[in-house]
Amino acid sequence: MKKILVTGSAGFIGANLVMRLLKEGFQGSPCRIVGLDNLNSYYDVSLKEYRLSVILSESEESKSEYRFVKGSIADRELVSGLFEEEKFDIVVNLAAQAGVRYSIENPDVYIESNIIGFYNILEACRHNPVEHLVYASSSSVYGGNKKVPFAVEDRVDNPVSLYAATKKSNELFAHCYSKLYDIPSTGLRFFTVYGPAGRPDMAYFGFTNKLLAGKTIQIYNYGNCRRDFTYVDDIVEGIVRVMAGAPARKKGEDGLPIPPYAVYNIGGGQPENLLDFVNILQEELLRAGVLPQDYDFDAHKELVPMQPGDVPTTYADSTALERDFGFTPKITLREGLRKFAQWYKEYYG
Ligand SMILES: NC(=O)c1ccc[n+]([C@@H]2O[C@H](COP(=O)([O-])OP(=O)(O)OC[C@H]3O[C@@H](n4cnc5c(N)ncnc54)[C@H](O)[C@@H]3O)[C@@H](O)[C@H]2O)c1
Repeated sequence: MKKILVTGSAGFIGANLVMRLLKEGFQGSPCRIVGLDNLNSYYDVSLKEYRLSVILSESEESKSEYRFVKGSIADRELVSGLFEEEKFDIVVNLAAQAGVRYSIENPDVYIESNIIGFYNILEACRHNPVEHLVYASSSSVYGGNKKVPFAVEDRVDNPVSLYAATKKSNELFAHCYSKLYDIPSTGLRFFTVYGPAGRPDMAYFGFTNKLLAGKTIQIYNYGNCRRDFTYVDDIVEGIVRVMAGAPARKKGEDGLPIPPYAVYNIGGGQPENLLDFVNILQEELLRAGVLPQDYDFDAHKELVPMQPGDVPTTYADSTALERDFGFTPKITLREGLRKFAQWYKEYYG
């Protein structure tokens, strides 16, 4: 039975990954899943507790084993003890302090979770060898790059937020550990992930809350921004495929390991205009009954200029993922936002 650690397992993507593993096992076989999360209060903790409760009831039906540990990846002793005890085969590090704006006010927590925490995971993988370390990077590493679509070969040396700098650092640290200790690692650059029980700090969720509260939403660059949105099930499908395909361990001519290291984009690859995105969201919120049929959207929308540091278009070149894993995100914005709206109606009533 493969032993899999998922950090950030009460988080949006982590919880969806754990659910998928509980439902389907790993490569068709039952597995042992250990979830680790510190349940921090960056956003509503009850949403994290809700995700954990859904996981717990799924685990009762599952052939796979499940254990949850509450704690921080920045806690060196906890992490190394857990690795020694469990002897993981695969580690998926999704725990991180996310958010770009929050990093202006709260830089410390980014260093603690994304740098020290990730370093602890690497050290634990070094001392307790794993088959594969998969970790979350982010599209934010592309900074203010103008060339689209963003490809993994593009230069990513100009981060414009501390969050982005920590994610790029993770890729550098992983490269170094892959080289020095022959640890197969894969970094995944996610592009705006959305879906049911998603993150309340993200635009689609925030817009919904605001519209419901009768507030006005602001649409930057008069809606002329294009963004790649990726439905969470597509992200999970990508992670699961990548987990099973660790970069091969090989020796170079000098007899030393060639780092078994890879980085991929996972993004929809079909950038959507912000205004179209908001229109679909509106329609789906009406359809699900989150907002009344006579809701006056025009009265709650404000088109505003671009914000400093914003880029007009960002989207992923996911051809490397398609080439190596035969997968490209498929779920349309309409389908995805429909599921979000239905969940929102059920959850908030
Ligand atoms: N959602 C997106 O659009 C997106 C885009 C790019 C990258 N990512 C990355 O994907 C990963 C998952 O993102 P998400 O959207 O699920 O975010 P999330 O905030 O919902 O999940 C992260 C989870 O990690 C936990 N956590 C934070 N610091 C921790 C620590 N020190 N120790 C243990 N647990 C800790 C949090 O409590 C949270 O439950 C993150 O690394 C994030 O940076 C997400």
